[in-house]
Amino acid sequence: DWTSDSFVDSTVANLKEKLGNDKVVLGLSGGVDSSVAAVLIHKAIGKNLYCIFVDNGLLRKNEFEEVLESYKNLGLNVKGVDAKEQFYTALAGLSDPEAKRKAIGKTFIDVFDQEAHLIEDVKWLGQGTIYPDVIESVSVKGPSATIKSHHNVGGLPDYMKLKVVEPLNTLFKDEVRLVGKTLGIDPNILGRHPFPGPGLAIRILGDITPEKVDVLQNVDAIFIGKLKEKGLYDQVWQAGAILLPIQSVGVMGDERTYEKVVALRAVTSVDGMTADWCHLPYEFLAEVSNDIINKVKGVNRVVYDISSKPPATIEWE
Ligand code: XMP
Repeated sequence: DWTSDSFVDSTVANLKEKLGNDKVVLGLSGGVDSSVAAVLIHKAIGKNLYCIFVDNGLLRKNEFEEVLESYKNLGLNVKGVDAKEQFYTALAGLSDPEAKRKAIGKTFIDVFDQEAHLIEDVKWLGQGTIYPDVIESVSVKGPSATIKSHHNVGGLPDYMKLKVVEPLNTLFKDEVRLVGKTLGIDPNILGRHPFPGPGLAIRILGDITPEKVDVLQNVDAIFIGKLKEKGLYDQVWQAGAILLPIQSVGVMGDERTYEKVVALRAVTSVDGMTADWCHLPYEFLAEVSNDIINKVKGVNRVVYDISSKPPATIEWE
């Protein structure tokens, strides 16, 4: 019978044998899978695992700093790379969702490749691929965040010539969480909602600017913060906010305003393939809406997405 304890023991033993004194490079995303894969490999080979965590400027508010800190607390040998400007430059003027995904994928490869080159004599690429990724490796919408699916971007970067080690590729998500728990990983990391690789870039409809990212980060932080505060976070499979490319009229005191509209999205799901919009309490939505409009400059209207998947998708792009 499968238990997470025996999985950890046998996997660590196998990794030790397979990797010996070789060096491994691994890209952390802040998500569950890459985090668990990293801790597992670290348990086997220690400092020979070199982790890279890229700030693409499209993460949630304060996420880069907080997650980097928790990786360090786990004892991982991790390098945080601030590549915000590179991503914003690559995205400048792009509005088409697929064009944005491609630009992000390509920039990620450039940054990762450059960092991987700084590690002398690295032999392996570690990945957090899980079993569902193996059986369904191409997302309907295009390349996903995982490194493997960036193959379709063009010529293979050098790090792709590395041998690949994927210790989670026989596991389902719930098993990955159990393994993470056995490894002592922070429940805050293990219980995180899924977050798309292209991040806030596909939640800002239209072109991306650092100013829009800032607005959306603040809106998102209020929404997610309230979900946690009210004990609703774990009942929701995924949640976030979308910055719409329209303005609407409002009043503030005696003044007419003409400002941005944000949509809130929260869904329940098992695997993301189908999803229902979440019936969040009206009082909760009212509080979130008031908070957002009062605190986030430039936003004067909040709407709630009541579409399920299918036919709508979870993301708007
Ligand atoms: P949709 O919008 O297709 O999303 O219903 C299903 C799940 O996939 C995530 N998603 C992505 N993840 N790269 C990713 O890594 C992407 O380009 C991407 N697009 C959607 C989405 O957040 C949801 O969890």
